Amino acid sequence: MTDQVTGTLVFAILTAVLSSFKFGYDIGVINAPQEVIVSHYRHVLGVPPDDQKAVDDYASTQELPTAPYLRNPTLSPEAEEEPTASAGLVTMFWSLSVSSFAIGGMIASFFGGWLGDKLGRIKAMLVANILSFTGALLMGFSKMGPSHILIIAGRSISGLYCGIISGLIPIYIGEIAPTALRGAIGTLHQLAIVTGILVSQIVGLDFILGNHELWHILLGLTAVPSLLQSVMLFFCPESPRYLYIKLDEEEKARQSLKRLRGGVDVTKDITEMRNEREEAMREQKVSIIQLFTNSSYRQPILVALLLHLTQQFSGINGIFYYSTSIFQTAGVGQPVYATIGVGAINTVFTAVSVFLVEKAGRRSLFLIGMGGMFFCAIFMSVGLVLLDKLSWMSYVSMIAIFLFVSFFEIGPGPIPWFMVGEFFNQGSRSAAMAVAAFCNWACNFFIALCFPYIAGFCGPYVFFLFAGTMLAFTLVTFFKVPETKGKSFEEIAEEFRKKSGSTQAAKAATEMKFLRATETA
Ligand code: GLC
Repeated sequence: MTDQVTGTLVFAILTAVLSSFKFGYDIGVINAPQEVIVSHYRHVLGVPPDDQKAVDDYASTQELPTAPYLRNPTLSPEAEEEPTASAGLVTMFWSLSVSSFAIGGMIASFFGGWLGDKLGRIKAMLVANILSFTGALLMGFSKMGPSHILIIAGRSISGLYCGIISGLIPIYIGEIAPTALRGAIGTLHQLAIVTGILVSQIVGLDFILGNHELWHILLGLTAVPSLLQSVMLFFCPESPRYLYIKLDEEEKARQSLKRLRGGVDVTKDITEMRNEREEAMREQKVSIIQLFTNSSYRQPILVALLLHLTQQFSGINGIFYYSTSIFQTAGVGQPVYATIGVGAINTVFTAVSVFLVEKAGRRSLFLIGMGGMFFCAIFMSVGLVLLDKLSWMSYVSMIAIFLFVSFFEIGPGPIPWFMVGEFFNQGSRSAAMAVAAFCNWACNFFIALCFPYIAGFCGPYVFFLFAGTMLAFTLVTFFKVPETKGKSFEEIAEEFRKKSGSTQAAKAATEMKFLRATETA
């Protein structure tokens, strides 16, 4: 029985997902202390007293950026009060402080798999931590220097780190997981991300660290998981797949597998890897361009991109970045606590998904999640549209948002991150993960930047738009995405051949017939 969960396996996974936790912390941390940091920027930049009101107004509209125009489509973000020149400078530095993280992520997402192949998974995680420490130091000490520059630099470098690990961590944990638990273990990456978001929302409350005295500590704390991880990594086994398939170190791979599986017979895993290795040797290393030009990769890479596009264009980050203002618009009292409620529900349902994913399968959970989100999006918009007439509609909107997030975490949240790794074998996995992670970051950046403008244009109907995109993506998913639960990489490749309905399948079948005929002859 090689599906056993051993202490070493748990330890290695916990160590790896400390990176994912830090990723989530960095996503969530910038939201709560916004007002205090903006007022510090004003102080550092010496904005004259005349401009102070404009900056204060800016800070409050940023905290609740969509509130006025979600209700009234004729008001766009530009229609709000124009800040003066110096206040505009503060605005610009603040926007850069937020978005530089995603820009760093986009750039570095291409290198996660590459670094993992060059150095090995463990060393790559260690080396990446240098970026994490550098970013955290710059932010942690930002109060003592030109804080706007230090924070932008620190967030960009943290973004680079997160871009790298968003490819690297799913690869490592996917490779050390027993086949039967690959989905559940893969989901732990997302569980750690959402836990990081929740923790940052809580410690960012103004009576904890999100205040004028301690905001820099709040930003610098992002080093803690990396510090812990750097120590723990010394006790983690290297990925057996990397050792065997990339380095041809069968004995070391066997040792590593024995540690991970608790000394039981690992012949089955070794045989699976041997097949993969033989295939990888025949195929050579696959470049990003080949993923699109070679017909046997084209279908899986398009489906991988589809999954990530679907995840981001569900509008989930519209909720994560702007939930406080959406709750405010929907007439919810204490919107900050409702936002923490979203973080908590998000975490609970990701945990539920860990258990469901090996029972129900990835494809069905993804479809159920998308279907549920489609209906919730409709209720969210209906709630906002009717709010002026029926005050109890605020409860409809609130419940719809909670359910929207729950459905997201049941499938569309965690599944794309690890399912892409399941589609590809060793020769192509790194390139595929790079493309998928880049696509995710780019869409994330797009939504973060454009959501207030889209909301400004559509007003309370904005979630109808997301419902539309979800419906379209659900249909494509239904026809194009194969089930991967419990299947080996070869079986998954076969599924793709069937789905593409293709000449490929026909060709393979003819070849098989020919082989059988020659065998019997
Ligand atoms: C997924 C998404 C990320 C989102 C998070 C929310 O990890 O990739 O963009 O913020 O889920 O839980």
